[in-house]
Amino acid sequence: MANLIDGKKIAMDIQAELKIIVKDLKVVPCLAVVLVGENPASQVYVRSKARTANDLGVKSETIYLPKETTELELLEQISKLNNDDSVHAILIQLPLPAQIKEGTILNAVSPKKDVDGFHAVNRGKLLIGEDTFIPCTPAGVQEMLVRSHVEIPGKHVVIVGRSKIVGLPLATMFAQKHKHANATVTVCHTGTADLTAITLQADILIAAIGKPEAIKGSMVKEGAVVIDVGINRVEEPSSEKGYKLVGDVEFDETAKHASAISPVPGGVGPMTIAMLMKNTVKAAQNSMRQ
Ligand SMILES: NC(=O)c1ccc[n+]([C@@H]2O[C@H](COP(=O)([O-])OP(=O)(O)OC[C@H]3O[C@@H](n4cnc5c(N)ncnc54)[C@H](OP(=O)(O)O)[C@@H]3O)[C@@H](O)[C@H]2O)c1
Repeated sequence: MANLIDGKKIAMDIQAELKIIVKDLKVVPCLAVVLVGENPASQVYVRSKARTANDLGVKSETIYLPKETTELELLEQISKLNNDDSVHAILIQLPLPAQIKEGTILNAVSPKKDVDGFHAVNRGKLLIGEDTFIPCTPAGVQEMLVRSHVEIPGKHVVIVGRSKIVGLPLATMFAQKHKHANATVTVCHTGTADLTAITLQADILIAAIGKPEAIKGSMVKEGAVVIDVGINRVEEPSSEKGYKLVGDVEFDETAKHASAISPVPGGVGPMTIAMLMKNTVKAAQNSMRQ
């Protein structure tokens, strides 16, 4: 059976390290989160981010805007936060309602406060290997591999999914000439002709698909390391909430072949929040150098 890559435990270790750094900082890092509308999953994420921030001594401010908010109103809110020196970090919770263009909004956040790493300037810096805010979920994936002592250089990393927030930044990161990367990277998507033929070649397989249990045990090479980024709600009438969370990987069957695997929940999810806190602390530290 595969070893469990316990994202929750690794995230707690990172948070304990950050708590010490925050205590010694001359400013209290401040993260502003903007949530437009009432998406239930987004509300859960936002509450969880605020709770973690408070645990670390990071100030967090959540701005709730109604679902009818216009693009202009949201731009005005972002401009206020950009110009507020007491706010070091800004996160716009996605998805946004249909009337608002995501790209316009993400590029309106000051790159210096863009702790999600979604501004075009920060995406470009990541591409050319300059210091920047690395998007939190991809950063969490890399960090959990490193802290689990998974050797990455020279390995074949297969990423299923090419979204701008997960798959593409991951591909960029693992292809870089860096001690925690330097891998051979393959990116798969709906245009991939024979997905199983590719996933079976992966030393490290990362699923960021958004389809419950799309990666079956039979698609995974013996001894591979599997990271499941997916978070999917599937109906579970017997549970109190009426649903349960599952990943993009069929866990039980895959665990029989893999050497290590991250679970859902308790894998990449907590790592994402830990990396958001890390980026927030970095933004506060950067602000003192300006
Ligand atoms: N743990 C966390 O903190 C965290 C953070 C972000 C996202 N997530 C989860 O991660 C998952 C992916 O999120 P996302 O935002 O990257 O999703 P997304 O924007 O919907 O992208 C999904 C990607 O998967 C590809 N894909 C879909 N079906 C496929 C198939 N049958 N075979 C091969 N490729 C397929 C798509 O290909 P095309 O490009 O060809 O359409 C696309 O590139 C979701 O479950 C999301 O909830 C978790």
